Amino acid sequence: MGGGVTDPVDDEALLARLRAAPVLAGPLPRFDPDEAPDAPGPLFAEWLELALADGVPEPGVMTLSTAGADGVPGARVLMLRGIDTADCAFRFTSDSRSPKGHDLAANPRAALSWYWPAHGRQIRMAGPVDVLGEEPTRQDFLGRGATSRTAAFTGVMSAPLSGPEEFERAQRTARRQVADEPERVPGTHTLYRLRAERAEFWQADPARFHLRLGYERTGAGWTRGLLWP
Ligand SMILES: Cc1cc2nc3c(=O)[nH]c(=O)nc-3n(C[C@H](O)[C@H](O)[C@H](O)COP(=O)(O)O)c2cc1C
Repeated sequence: MGGGVTDPVDDEALLARLRAAPVLAGPLPRFDPDEAPDAPGPLFAEWLELALADGVPEPGVMTLSTAGADGVPGARVLMLRGIDTADCAFRFTSDSRSPKGHDLAANPRAALSWYWPAHGRQIRMAGPVDVLGEEPTRQDFLGRGATSRTAAFTGVMSAPLSGPEEFERAQRTARRQVADEPERVPGTHTLYRLRAERAEFWQADPARFHLRLGYERTGAGWTRGLLWP
């Protein structure tokens, strides 16, 4: 939290440094759209596998974009909690009382995006979102460590918090709750699934001949084609 009146930010200098910072520098992996699978699920799995093998930082971190009944968009980062490669569906969890939970209840459509700078790759998925049932939700929750389970019982996601005392109080209560009832799953812990109807794979090229391959679901199959970058 630097800056302020006594330390004015030089916007021009900041922008110049930003422009000088390397971007899409490579070495980047090869991508041949002609060899890409007919469906986007297997291509996602292929790209994710390579990201994991190459140690790309946090490849499971993705941005979820939603818009509620008012049409106002919101975006935030989430963890990928599961994939159904054959169906091109992606699972994530959140608190149904959060703004994204309200958005998805009012308008169950969303977009997911990943950006892996080390590979110069962006992936976008968009489609309807549904809520998975009690058993998979339970398995997702109880498969987590105690710290993560405690966090889920602490407060109401995105509600105003008065400060550290309230936070610590809520954490103490949540820790007791998890210790006393280790099998309990918060009623608002929700496992969502986005089933892609549109997918896009973007591969950077240091020479700026970026490649974009788009897919659209057509009933049981997919059509695909290149897009201008
Ligand atoms: C790396 C990272 C991973 C996150 N993973 C999740 C997640 O899996 N689920 C979640 O609800 N929030 C996650 N968050 C927090 C969200 O970005 C966000 O702050 C929170 O869900 C509230 O969003 P909302 O107010 O738009 O509903 C994560 C944040 C970061 C930076």
